[in-house]
Amino acid sequence: MAKAKRKIIVGNWKMAPDTLVEAKQIFTTVARGVSRLKRTQAAVCPPFLFFHSLISGYTGTRVGFGVQDIFYEESGAYTGEVSPVAVKRMGGTYAIVGHSERRLLGETNAIVAKKTAAALKAGLTPIICIGERTRDNEGKYLGEIKEQLLESLGKLQRPSLSSVIIAYEPIWAIGASSAMSPRDMHEMRIYIQKVLTDSFGKDVAALVRVLYGGSVDGSNAGSIVGESEVDGLLVGRQSLTGEGFMAILKAVESL
Ligand code: PGA
Repeated sequence: MAKAKRKIIVGNWKMAPDTLVEAKQIFTTVARGVSRLKRTQAAVCPPFLFFHSLISGYTGTRVGFGVQDIFYEESGAYTGEVSPVAVKRMGGTYAIVGHSERRLLGETNAIVAKKTAAALKAGLTPIICIGERTRDNEGKYLGEIKEQLLESLGKLQRPSLSSVIIAYEPIWAIGASSAMSPRDMHEMRIYIQKVLTDSFGKDVAALVRVLYGGSVDGSNAGSIVGESEVDGLLVGRQSLTGEGFMAILKAVESL
């Protein structure tokens, strides 16, 4: 099974915090903490409002920057949207696309596929979120995952596929009181790999990184990454304090 050289831990700050002062506080703790990490890559996805200030004030290289969404056009009259080209030029590396909270607002697999293609064209690494709303005993959710995954990838050519990151986030585990078990995540890891292998071939599928997301914290991060063989984590609430995010990074680093 594919293994990225370094595990990647991505913080999705969502619509928080409220002030730039707080954003800087969170970021400063992370920026200081990562200097001791050797095997773990950290990335933060702050709100667009704070993105420029944080990235332009950062002189280090160990924290990657991403955005929580992008538009699928490079330029033009699109009120309220953000161009992937502008994100790249500003120093961004990642773009989360298709987060379940955006899908809930009406984002379809077809839109996610357009955003995925636009991110890649701009030189950003798309982090494509997929995940079932609920689980059933007949395994229907697996069909849902397969459809989301393949449709969100759209008509990507094989070479581009190796630059894509998939974040598997079961919706029932997001913002919940506990994460999915490492064992169940391991099964999903294998399933996602199989779907990709069937469609794109083993060699390309092996290069696609798969993250887990949903109620990750400092106490479960190590076992999830260690036992499920994911390539990293997408973290919500616990990325909103520098200490919480660093606890996850340290847990993964010490594996
Ligand atoms: P959570 O959010 O870590 O707060 O559950 C995860 C996510 O939505 O990416």
